[in-house]
Amino acid sequence: MGFEGTGYGKAILIGEHFVVHGARGIGIGIPRKTTVILEKAPSLSFSFECGDLLKEATRKVLEKVAHGTGFVVSVTSEFPVSAGMGWSASYCVALARAAAAAAGKEISDKEAAKAAFEGEKAFHGNPSGIDNTLAAHGGVMLFKKGREPEPLLVGGKFHFVIANSGKKGPTKELVDKVSSMRKDKPDEYCALEEAEEWLVDKTIDALSRGDAVALGRLMDENNVLLARLGLSTPSIDDIRGIALGNGALGAKITGAGGGGCVLILAPDTGKGEEIADKLGKYGAFGFLIE
Ligand code: PMV
Repeated sequence: MGFEGTGYGKAILIGEHFVVHGARGIGIGIPRKTTVILEKAPSLSFSFECGDLLKEATRKVLEKVAHGTGFVVSVTSEFPVSAGMGWSASYCVALARAAAAAAGKEISDKEAAKAAFEGEKAFHGNPSGIDNTLAAHGGVMLFKKGREPEPLLVGGKFHFVIANSGKKGPTKELVDKVSSMRKDKPDEYCALEEAEEWLVDKTIDALSRGDAVALGRLMDENNVLLARLGLSTPSIDDIRGIALGNGALGAKITGAGGGGCVLILAPDTGKGEEIADKLGKYGAFGFLIE
């Protein structure tokens, strides 16, 4: 008999990288999931090809939740690995929930996020915790390291599109790159972080008022900061150009950057579909937050 668990994918509306260093960020759970199925077995094995990091993360989560690793692990996902949609966190949350089911115990969203964080550390070294928080809770959350995540008021409908610019490098390398820049150019980094914190306040306000035009502008401004961190690529710029040229209100890197996904805000569902169509070669899809 199999034991099943799921975790959401995520998009970061504002604050990727800055959250690693203690700033606030805002993330949204996207309606695409990863599902893990565990079957009891004498020892740990996988029904799919995987690397050492995933094996290590799996061991950590299973030991924490099921107090043993005797399982065959299977996984399916509605979104790609290494795209900036938080695949590793959604895998770890799904795994924690499946492990709890196998151990015959209840697991809250908060506990699933906490157990998944152990796996995230194996994957990424120094994760902020925003991905596993979103993968467990979904919704729209204000996040800051070491604080309880705070669900945010959403006072209207926001029509998002996500497009995938192509495979990005491992999150760990991109996080290390930004951490080095923070160390080598502290004044420049501080100025960017200050701007990011200001954008967080404005974003909370735009979300609560249901003001999509303001939110789109803030996303563009956030993207300027991420580009200054060296996280944009020609494909990301191409996606932003196509989206904005076809009526998008704003578009930004989401996740670690250096490839991966672009989060786009459309004025309505129809425009969102049109933009997703134009970005067909980038595997674009739309979803609604309200
Ligand atoms: O690209 P992803 O899905 O791994 O997202 C990483 C988000 C970062 O802020 C860059 C890292 C983190 O741990 O918050």
